Parts: sequence; C-alpha cells; structure tokens
Amino acid sequence: MLNLNNAAYEASYGTAKQLPESILPEIIFSGRSNVGKSSLINKLLNRKALARVSATPGKTATINFFDIDGKAKFVDLPGYGYAKVSHSEKQRWADLVEGYFAGDRKYCVVVQIIDMRHDPTEQDLTMIDFLSHNRLPFIVVLTKKDKLNKTQQQKQMNLFSEIFSDFDSVPVFPFSALKGDGKEEILSYLESKIDEYSIEEEM
Ligand code: GTP
Ligand code: MG
Repeated sequence: MLNLNNAAYEASYGTAKQLPESILPEIIFSGRSNVGKSSLINKLLNRKALARVSATPGKTATINFFDIDGKAKFVDLPGYGYAKVSHSEKQRWADLVEGYFAGDRKYCVVVQIIDMRHDPTEQDLTMIDFLSHNRLPFIVVLTKKDKLNKTQQQKQMNLFSEIFSDFDSVPVFPFSALKGDGKEEILSYLESKIDEYSIEEEM
C-alpha cells in the first residue's frame, strides 16, 4: 500500500537535459493547460496546494516531480494548447515533453486528462495517438464532472467510450476535484499499475 500522506514536491525542470535519472515507476499527468491537472494531483494526494492551482493558464512550463512514499513518482507535464504563448514557448514545450518520453525512464502509466464538458481537442487526440503508437499504458481522466448535470454526464461518457473504443480497453474515469468523485477508483487503479510495474521489473 502507498502512503499518500507521505508525498512531497521534489523539483521542476525546464529542459529535458536536466531531468534526473529515473529510479522509481513514474505516473505521468498530461493534458491541455487549465484542464485541472494540478487540481487532480492535489486531490489524489489530499493536499490543498502541493501542485499549484492557477486561474491563469499556461504558467506551468516545467516538468514537476513529486515523490510518492518513496515508491513512485508523480510527473506533472506542462499543459499544452494555451493559445497565448509564443512560438518559441511552444517549441520549448515540445522539446521538453519529447525529451521526457525519449529518455530511458520507468514509464508506468500516463494519466491523460480531458475536460469532460468538451470534445477532445486536436492536441488531445495527437497526444493519445502518440501514447498508443509508443505503447505507453494510459488511462483517461475526465475532469470537471461537477459542471455537468446527470444527462450531460451520461452523454459525454457515451461520447468518450465511443472515441476510446478504438484503443484496447483504455479505462476512462470521470472525476470532480470539487466533489472528489472518481478519486478512489483512480487511486486504486494507479496503485495496481505501480504494483504490476514493480513485479514485472523483478522478473
Ligand atoms: P495549468 O497548470 O495552468 O495549465 O492548469 P491545470 O491543468 O493544472 O489546471 P488547474 O488545476 O490549475 O485548474 C484550472 C481551473 O479549473 C482552476 O480554477 C480550478 O479550480 C478549476 N478546476 C479544476 N478541476 C475542477 C473540477 O473538477 N471542478 C471544477 N468545478 N473546477 C475545477
Ligand atoms: Mg497546473
């Protein structure tokens, strides 16, 4: 069992070259800017502001590492798709994220985060194609569930199930950082992936 109360922010990196050697399984959080990535990490770890929550998107242009009970890392990738950043900032984002995935790291599972209210963006789909193509295990977390009524939630769940039916059994978790819906399901899934990864490594 992971003790989630024993989680700590470690460091942030602005270039792929600075990344530390990977020694523990990494749970990677990916999604567009403002989708609720930091809020998800904070909620999973029972912390108010371990990962910063911003009303001004596009600020997190670093890869942030968190140690989880000395057994795994949470890796917070910079959000993509924020319109108001320069071309050079976008290039830096691409270099950083590509550099992260081009390393020889312990990629355990990617948590791909999408706003439940909307269709996936072009960049969400590009990211999912990339993950699928590179055989990186991933799950989808749909954020801001509390902003939809029951009928809308069902409609969006049907839409996302349809979209992800092309991929082999990708789990889709609706989530609300406000209400905590989905938190336990996501945590137990991530814990099972960490266990699985550690067992495979020993073999
Ligand atoms: P950047 O790091 O700036 O790219 O954003 P982020 O993806 O980390 O998003 P963040 O967690 O900062 O949340 C963005 C905004 O959405 C904040 O105002 C949050 O309070 C709000 N938010 C995030 N998740 C939820 C949710 O599940 N429900 C509701 N109602 N609001 C949410
Ligand atoms: Mg953030």
